[in-house]
Amino acid sequence: MAIRKIAQIGHPVLRQTARHLTREELASSETQQFIDDLVETMHDADGAGLAATQVYEPIAICAIEVRNNPRYPYKPNIPLTILVNPVLTPVDDEQFDNYEGCLSVPNLRGLVKRHLHVRVQAWDRHGTAIDEVVHGLKAGTYQHEVDHLLGKIFVDRVTDPTTFTTWTEFDRHHKPAFVERITRLVARVGS
Ligand code: NI
Repeated sequence: MAIRKIAQIGHPVLRQTARHLTREELASSETQQFIDDLVETMHDADGAGLAATQVYEPIAICAIEVRNNPRYPYKPNIPLTILVNPVLTPVDDEQFDNYEGCLSVPNLRGLVKRHLHVRVQAWDRHGTAIDEVVHGLKAGTYQHEVDHLLGKIFVDRVTDPTTFTTWTEFDRHHKPAFVERITRLVARVGS
């Protein structure tokens, strides 16, 4: 396994649309090794998720995991999940405001609207079909990572630029109200 370099905003690879994989490509030892590297890189950077495009591979794979994450202490845990060729569909029109950050955007957070309930259709790393509905912050994380595979970065979705904040100023000025609001949301939708 190897820790890969993470592309930073401005690098064109982050604007590429990731290519979907065939079952044969997914099963190859090269792709399976790549998935191990993606997970190791995500762990090393304390990310809640990491998309293949962020490590310079424009293929439709992302990893998601939240396990007592120091970057996002208010996020409920999500077991390690690999999504291959994911497609997200909002279940209804309900949205919520989420402060997001990104390993490809150093020291910046901003307020993004996300769907509260989304259906995810994908394969896992073994090609087994995933078809489930995810909610709340978990749904927000899924939308952030799948956006990367479509060449989108969270900053594209920040509708009010006055919400941009460094991590330090987030902790000082925005975190208490946000955590209170998001904790109520998590209690309502369960994740
Ligand atoms: Ni990101």
